[in-house]
Amino acid sequence: MPRSIAVFGAGYIGLVTGACFAELGHQVVVRDVVPDKVAALNAGDVPIYEPGLSDVIARNAGRLRFTLDAGEAAAGAEVVFVCVDTPPTASGDADLSRVWAVVEALRGAVHLKALVVKSTVPTGTGAKIRAYLDRVGLGHVGYASNPEFTAEGRAVADFMHPDRIVIGAFDEASAALVAEIHEGVDGPVMAMDVLSAETVKLTANALLATKISFANEVANLCEATGADVERVMGAVGADHRLGAHFLKAGVGWGGSCFPKDSLALKQLAANSGYPFQLLNAVIEVNDLQRRRAVNRLKEQFGGLSGKTVALLGLTFKANTDDMREAPSTVIAARLLAEGATVRCWDPMARLPQHEPWTLTTRHSTPLEAVAGADAAMIVTEWPQLRDVPWEQAKAAMAGPVLFDGRNLLDPQAMAEAGFTYLSVGRATTQP
Ligand code: UGA
Repeated sequence: MPRSIAVFGAGYIGLVTGACFAELGHQVVVRDVVPDKVAALNAGDVPIYEPGLSDVIARNAGRLRFTLDAGEAAAGAEVVFVCVDTPPTASGDADLSRVWAVVEALRGAVHLKALVVKSTVPTGTGAKIRAYLDRVGLGHVGYASNPEFTAEGRAVADFMHPDRIVIGAFDEASAALVAEIHEGVDGPVMAMDVLSAETVKLTANALLATKISFANEVANLCEATGADVERVMGAVGADHRLGAHFLKAGVGWGGSCFPKDSLALKQLAANSGYPFQLLNAVIEVNDLQRRRAVNRLKEQFGGLSGKTVALLGLTFKANTDDMREAPSTVIAARLLAEGATVRCWDPMARLPQHEPWTLTTRHSTPLEAVAGADAAMIVTEWPQLRDVPWEQAKAAMAGPVLFDGRNLLDPQAMAEAGFTYLSVGRATTQP
C-alpha cells in the first residue's frame, strides 16, 4: 500500500532513501535546510555522485519532490524518516541537534503514524525521543529505529538488496508499518527492541573498521618479516567464518561513517562506564596508518623537503566524490608539513576550499599530475589507475618512486616500468 513519506535530510542517506521509497511506489517528500540543494533537486540536478541515483530520481519524479519547509513536509506525512547527519561534537559524542530539530518540527503532523530514525544515533536516543513525543501530545505516533547499512558508491543497490532490514520499535504496529513500507526490498527483516537496533549500526561499522585495522597491522608486520599481505589475507579470508571482505590493507579507512561511528561507540562505552579498549586500538592503528605512508616515503628520500609528490586519488574510496575523513587529507597535510610540493589528481573529488587542498595543485589526468614529480602515491583505488601507461608516467617524472597505498598494481610490472615500487605489506621492488 503506497504511503505518504517525509524524509528529513537530503544527504547521501536521505536522497537514496527517498528515491528508493518512491521507486517502491510511495509518495515521498524530501526536506533539506540548504536552499541551493533543494532548488537543484527540484530542477532535476542531483548534487552528489552516487551511481544510479540520478536515474531513480528521474524515473520517479512524479512521486518525489523536495522542499525547504519542515512543517509542510511533516504535515502531510504518515511516516517521517530522519536521515540528517549526526557529526561528532567536541567531546566525540554524536551531535543530535539536527535530529531533535526534526522531532520538534512534528507538532503539527496530524496524519503522522510513525517516526523512524535512520540517522546513526547513540544507544538510548530512541527512548528519549519516545518520552518527548509522549510529553508533547504525540503519544499516538509510533517510534522506530531503522539503521542504514548502505555503502557509498553502491547505495542504491545496497538499499534495494540489503543483507538485512533492522527494525527496532517500542510497539508491534510501528514495526509492522516500517516493514510494510519496505515491501519490494529484497532482504530479510530483523525486528528487535530499539536499544538493540541502535547498537547494531555502530557495532557493524566498528567491526568492519576493526577488520581493516587488523589487516593493516598484519601488513605492517609483513613489511618487517617479508611475507606478502595479499597472499596472507587472501588465504585468511577464504575461511568462511572470517569472510573475505574488509581485509584489504591500505592507507587506512575514512569516510563519513567509520571514523564517526567508531568514535561514537568508543565515547558511548566510556560514558557508560566501560572503556572499549579494542576499539581504542582500532582507531589508533588507523591514525598511524596514514602517517606511516608518508614516513615510508620520507625514509625513501631521507627527507621530503623540496620534493614534489603527486597524489593519485583523493576521495576516501573509489566511486564517490566524498572527501570526508579521506586519508588523502592527512597525507597531503603531512607532506606539506615535511616541506614537499603536492600535485593531485582525482576524477570525482569535491575538494574542500581550505587547507591542505588550497596549498596543492589539481591536474586533470594522472599523467599530468605526475609530470616532474619525485614520487607518486596512489591513495584511492580508482580503477582507471590500473590503465595508466606507467612507463610513460615514469618517463615524465623527475624521480622513480611509486608508493601504491592500495596495492592496486603488480610489483613486478612496476619494477619493469622502471619504478622503485613501494606498496602496503608487500616487498618493495626495484627496476
Ligand atoms: C560504511 C559501511 O560499509 C556501510 O555498511 C554503512 O552503511 C556506511 O558506512 C554508513 O555508516 O553509512 P562507506 O563509509 O560508504 O560505508 O564505505 P566503505 O565501503 O565501508 O569503506 C570505508 C573505508 O574503508 C574506505 O576508506 C575504504 O577505502 C576502506 N576500506 C574498506 C579498506 O581500507 N579496506 C577494505 O578492505 C575495505
